[in-house]
Amino acid sequence: MEKQILALQVAHILGEEYRREWVQQQIETPKQSNHGDLAFPCFPLAKSLKKSPHRIAEEIAAHLKHPIFKEVQTLGGYINIFLDQGFVAEHALNQFFQDPEAYGTHEFGKGKTVVLDMSAPNIAKPFSMGHLRSTVIGNALSNLAQTCGYETVKINYIGDYGTQFGKLLAAYLKWGEEESLRQNPIQELTRVYVKFHHASKDNPSLIEEGREWFKKLEDNDEEAVALWKWFKAVSLEEFEKIYKLLGITFDSTRGEAYYNDKMTATINMLQENGLLEKSDGAQVVRLDEEELPPCLIRKSNGTTIYATRDLTAAIDRKQMYDFDEALYVVGHEQTLHFQQIKHVLKKAEFSWADQLKHVSFGMMLQDGKKMSTRQGKTVLLEQALQEAISQAAKNIKEKNPELKDAQKVAEQVGVGAVIFHDLKHDRRNDVEFSLEDMLTFEGHTAPYLQYTYARTVSLLEKGNFDYNNPVTDVQTESAWGLIKTIRLFPEVIEKAYKAYDPSKLARHLLDVARHFNKFYAHTKVVGSEEEQALLSLIYAVNYQLKEGLSILGIQAPENM
Ligand code: ARG
Repeated sequence: MEKQILALQVAHILGEEYRREWVQQQIETPKQSNHGDLAFPCFPLAKSLKKSPHRIAEEIAAHLKHPIFKEVQTLGGYINIFLDQGFVAEHALNQFFQDPEAYGTHEFGKGKTVVLDMSAPNIAKPFSMGHLRSTVIGNALSNLAQTCGYETVKINYIGDYGTQFGKLLAAYLKWGEEESLRQNPIQELTRVYVKFHHASKDNPSLIEEGREWFKKLEDNDEEAVALWKWFKAVSLEEFEKIYKLLGITFDSTRGEAYYNDKMTATINMLQENGLLEKSDGAQVVRLDEEELPPCLIRKSNGTTIYATRDLTAAIDRKQMYDFDEALYVVGHEQTLHFQQIKHVLKKAEFSWADQLKHVSFGMMLQDGKKMSTRQGKTVLLEQALQEAISQAAKNIKEKNPELKDAQKVAEQVGVGAVIFHDLKHDRRNDVEFSLEDMLTFEGHTAPYLQYTYARTVSLLEKGNFDYNNPVTDVQTESAWGLIKTIRLFPEVIEKAYKAYDPSKLARHLLDVARHFNKFYAHTKVVGSEEEQALLSLIYAVNYQLKEGLSILGIQAPENM
């Protein structure tokens, strides 16, 4: 608000040549508190006004006036503005207390639909760290979108089709053990698959067998289909355990195989549009003008591939949901694939092709290296989550041996820690997986936020806060940093969604907690003169932490 006010006044003083939007873009937020809360640099004006930046600053400063500006100073070529704390606090807290549930929500997504392609693990393979990232980032984005007014559809596009299933069928029939498969399906399927992978290096006839089994699967051979369905069922059961731990659900779990009998229509459509070309016996869409390699549509042996299914799925989803945005939350390695999908759709003149967005992310590393699921180096995700929970239980026991519901709290803390550790990083970067880092109470962690939240709960109880009678004008000096931080919440939500970047919200919550703890360390709340006002502020913090964590997909226990 104050930025708009300042921009409006400065633009008015400067006259018509300077647009308010331009002025607003120049406004800075000083790092040092003795430089005020807002700063306007006059350097860019010096040339055209033929005056020194310092003179310009003084001339403009003399005319700035508003109840929200407590003091206007000039320094060097800057105008530094100090805001009126009482005014700002009152404005922010009034906005919040008017309708706490609506605080931070937006309308710009109203009437629009976002479809999220997320999680998408591959059956018969371990649920990887990459799939975990896709799941938690996708879930947070869906929550953010809803907060901005959108309808969302979370789709788990299970990897349940492709030539690898031919190999898997061949491998299982050769080496598989039914009992092991029942006991530990993914492990057994990975075992035979890895074995196949190695054995086929010296034995090319195995590859041929794999191909034949895939052909059988495509031709609906009874045995092949029955086995494949079984692999799928047991895999989904395993994945479900992870989703349950994470507390994440989907609106649709339509996998790749669903599109098998719908791809002919896609291929015909490409043909009719004159886009299909032969290349070494295969059919491709050339993307020369886009400077991309050709998109393979049908292999020389007649089988369809990943891209064909994705094209078909996109068209189907558009018809089904009439989305305004389709987000594909998938790792960087698939960047080329999604560029190709989008450009093929564009070439086929689907006007909505630009609504497809690849929301890509970096890798999960361990000791600086990619966590791989191949070659038996499996990091079992469910185990990692269970480990986080038991570590959290240990930490909680040390801190608070008397805690009720300790096991439930440990789950909320352990799982929250894993989710937050992922979401606090800009999704485009790689993340180092470290249980120890994610579980400390002092670092940039979920337990730190949850602990801060629990602290606000107990303070509000102790002070008997009556949220029907808030006092919104806070004068206590030590509360200023906190007030300035919490009022950014609505803006942060909007920016986080628009950049598809939950880390903006995650880092904001860390700021809120840090400012709250600093404030609390220096300020007497219960029994102070401003008790009701300070409790009102703490209630706003409490609400914001809980709401923010919930958008990230993390629970906040009342006690811990
Ligand atoms: N199952 C794929 C994988 O694990 C990811 C699928 C991503 N979504 C999509 N529409 N292609 O690599």
